[in-house]
Amino acid sequence: MWKLQENILEKSDKDKLSDFINSTDRFTQFKRVKLFENEWSKWQGCKYSTFVNSGSSAVLVMIDGVKEYYNIPDNSEVIVPAVTWTTNITSVIQTKLKPVFVDINLKDLSFDYDSIEKAISAKTRIILITHLIGLPANIAKIKSIAEKYNLIVLEDCCESHGALFEGKKIGNHGIASTFSFYWGHHMTTIEGGMLCTDIEELNDLFILKRSHGLARELDLSKHDVYKKKYPDIDFNFLFLTHGYNFRNTELHATIGVEQLKHLDYYIAVRNTNYEKFIKILALIEDKIYMCNSKGFSSFCLPFIFKDKNDRNLLQSRFHDNQIETRPIISGNLLRQPCFKSYGNYSDFSNADILHQNGFYIGNNQFVNDERLNKLKDILKEVF
Ligand SMILES: Cc1ncc(COP(=O)(O)O)c(C=O)c1O
Repeated sequence: MWKLQENILEKSDKDKLSDFINSTDRFTQFKRVKLFENEWSKWQGCKYSTFVNSGSSAVLVMIDGVKEYYNIPDNSEVIVPAVTWTTNITSVIQTKLKPVFVDINLKDLSFDYDSIEKAISAKTRIILITHLIGLPANIAKIKSIAEKYNLIVLEDCCESHGALFEGKKIGNHGIASTFSFYWGHHMTTIEGGMLCTDIEELNDLFILKRSHGLARELDLSKHDVYKKKYPDIDFNFLFLTHGYNFRNTELHATIGVEQLKHLDYYIAVRNTNYEKFIKILALIEDKIYMCNSKGFSSFCLPFIFKDKNDRNLLQSRFHDNQIETRPIISGNLLRQPCFKSYGNYSDFSNADILHQNGFYIGNNQFVNDERLNKLKDILKEVF
């Protein structure tokens, strides 16, 4: 059985978690969350990190915070790829902005770079990049367009922890970025997500929005200013902005601190597997679109066929061999019932090829040469 993900929690992670539970009376967001945020900032190479309860919450807070910080009016447009996780798009809609879809390319699975400029209007304010399945987008190309039109660049790195663009970790190339620590990702806090930025005032908005908009969530050094500014309101319940409750817990942060210690190793194993996978795929290179991008941090092993019949054949053979498969993220989002009104799916031809002819299987630290050899045998047998 080759599952998408297995028990990623190490014995030492579980031991540290139970030690923590037995040594504390405080389980809600506190010192462990702060510790995990500090450790993550060090690993990621950013100034500020804010731990939330999912990658989706991180994306929603990022867009909401950026909209408020830059005073972006309602109905402004956000450039998004036709293939990404669905909550990236709903976050745009929920913050009263308008997603404008751009087709993808079938190499690094980010935007079709030549189509971005055509989608820009006088109302465009943000380009929301997704680094899909661990393949870094070409940030230089995107940033040169963003600079030309004075647009804000945001990075969703929920599937790409540790990927590099031009030697620098992705997530550090725009104004802010997001990560997911859901079970199947490069490391886990079971459920969880992170927001990163180098801008202190923006990070303050992230901190406020994570927890109802409460002023007391800010660093202690900032409390007096607000106590003096609003003397008629009890500081314990002083709300500075519109917020959510997207806090995470000390338990999840404890797992995060432990998992982070393994992350570089997990990424190295995933990447070694991916390099071998690319060599195996060379066996059928005339039948597929080869997904690759320098600096990758592999999320999964994707197959995008030129012919749908080949996809069907291989996917059913994988099922027979108990190899779990998934569509490549949400497929062509314009085909999803919830986004139909945003465009005609057939106008996004690469996204549609991925939708109809693609799927992926798991890559993680449990994938080894034995499994990869089996994969090779299956490919040889089927084609
Ligand atoms: C690209 C991308 N962005 C955002 C998310 C949302 O993360 P979460 O599942 O933690 O809400 C996911 C989820 O897998 C994702 O793949």
